Amino acid sequence: MKKGTEIQPAEGKLGVLTPGMGAVATTLVAGVFAVRNGLAKPIGSLTQMGTIRLGKRTEKRIPMIRNFVPLSELEDLVFGGWDIFEDDMYAAAITAAVLERQTLDSIRAELESVKPMPAVFDQSYVKRLNGTHVKQGKTKMDLADQLRKDLQDFKTNHGLSRLVMIWCGSTEVYIKPGSVHRSVERFEKGLQENDPGISPSMIYAYAALSEGVPFGNGAPNLTVDIPALIELAKNNKVPVSGKDFKTGQTLMKTVLAPAFKARMLGVAGWFSTNILGNRDGEVLDEPMSFKSKEVSKLGALEYILQPELYPELYRDFYHKVRINYYPPRGDNKEGWDNIDIFGWLGYPMQVKLDFLCRDSILAAPLVLDLALFMDLASRAGMSGIQEWLSFYYKSPMVAEGLYPEHDLFIQLKKLKNTLRHLEGEDLITHLGLEYYD
Ligand SMILES: NC(=O)c1ccc[n+]([C@@H]2O[C@H](COP(=O)([O-])OP(=O)(O)OC[C@H]3O[C@@H](n4cnc5c(N)ncnc54)[C@H](O)[C@@H]3O)[C@@H](O)[C@H]2O)c1
Repeated sequence: MKKGTEIQPAEGKLGVLTPGMGAVATTLVAGVFAVRNGLAKPIGSLTQMGTIRLGKRTEKRIPMIRNFVPLSELEDLVFGGWDIFEDDMYAAAITAAVLERQTLDSIRAELESVKPMPAVFDQSYVKRLNGTHVKQGKTKMDLADQLRKDLQDFKTNHGLSRLVMIWCGSTEVYIKPGSVHRSVERFEKGLQENDPGISPSMIYAYAALSEGVPFGNGAPNLTVDIPALIELAKNNKVPVSGKDFKTGQTLMKTVLAPAFKARMLGVAGWFSTNILGNRDGEVLDEPMSFKSKEVSKLGALEYILQPELYPELYRDFYHKVRINYYPPRGDNKEGWDNIDIFGWLGYPMQVKLDFLCRDSILAAPLVLDLALFMDLASRAGMSGIQEWLSFYYKSPMVAEGLYPEHDLFIQLKKLKNTLRHLEGEDLITHLGLEYYD
């Protein structure tokens, strides 16, 4: 008899709350409503479309992931959130201009019923935006208390069993962890004293963790990736994960770079540029918000290529990332990569990649999966950093002293092995010798 982890059943309704109700959040919510109404399929979502192999290949046991682990059903999700603009989900989705009007109109009433709560906002953290739908409070602790009340009220008013929060707000300016981020005690003192080092996204994360609500971070801001909030997550037994959804260019990077390394091909340079014209692009046009994104986007290659282990192949490779705000493209981003590689005897070659993607179409299913998996983690008694969800992030959070795993397929194996582990199934190592004995 296999023994897995005890997981509380996914009974009742799950509230999915997003600070930020812009392009990504509206595409998620409209998408789930469209799927629930039989208008479309949840393509791109591992929890909805994916399978998991169990046992030996000869056993042919390959259930759907959603039938293997107890996840909330799409019918049981209730959406809400906060934004600095008053637009409901329908109006916000029209502004985001990701999905066709016809699709939005067919679920209009449902979308209109999702209205943003007033946000916690500070323009010094997102310089390009200025909204009026914001909370007032004397101290940052007051604001955190108002958010906690929002969480309690949302749960009661909608008759929910559980909540999960995923940051879908704008990218905040780059900051380095400082002394106020070092412990819960210092952080709480900082909230009382309005320490400028505490950003709005951190206040949301603090409120969520204080209420026992799992928190995932879809943007590159530090947010929950600071010792104080990791400590709070541990104390309150709440799962956290982040940062920065891995959607377009970095997704491709973390597929191609492991391939070059697997074949011991050298990389001399990797130049990545993007044009995009949505509000995210406008925010990222500001140098300090771009800096947060740049740091997040640059990290992956260093870790995958390991130049310290392979100096002849990857020492001094030149890596540049550019993002240019170009309004005509809207949410339909174009990401170009020029990769200079070298092979046998050092002969140079080039790879050119042009990904004409849709930012929010790639991001929305990740938010859905994260909401469902973070809730699963919570019901399975997992707390603190959820490294198994690195699969979804450009800049995965890891325990202090560990380096993050960026290779997409190692991340997927880690995720699926975690699910097998939870259900008491054998982990899959791909050794395979047993088939030939
Ligand atoms: N789409 C992708 O592929 C992708 C990938 C990785 C990361 N992200 C990140 O996800 C986030 C959302 O992206 P998007 O395209 O939806 O951007 P968006 O600009 O369309 O939406 C962000 C929303 O957050 C709101 N906001 C800003 N600060 C807030 C605050 N303090 N509280 C509440 N609301 C706040 C804004 O008003 C806006 O409506 C961004 O940080 C982006 O960098 C997106």
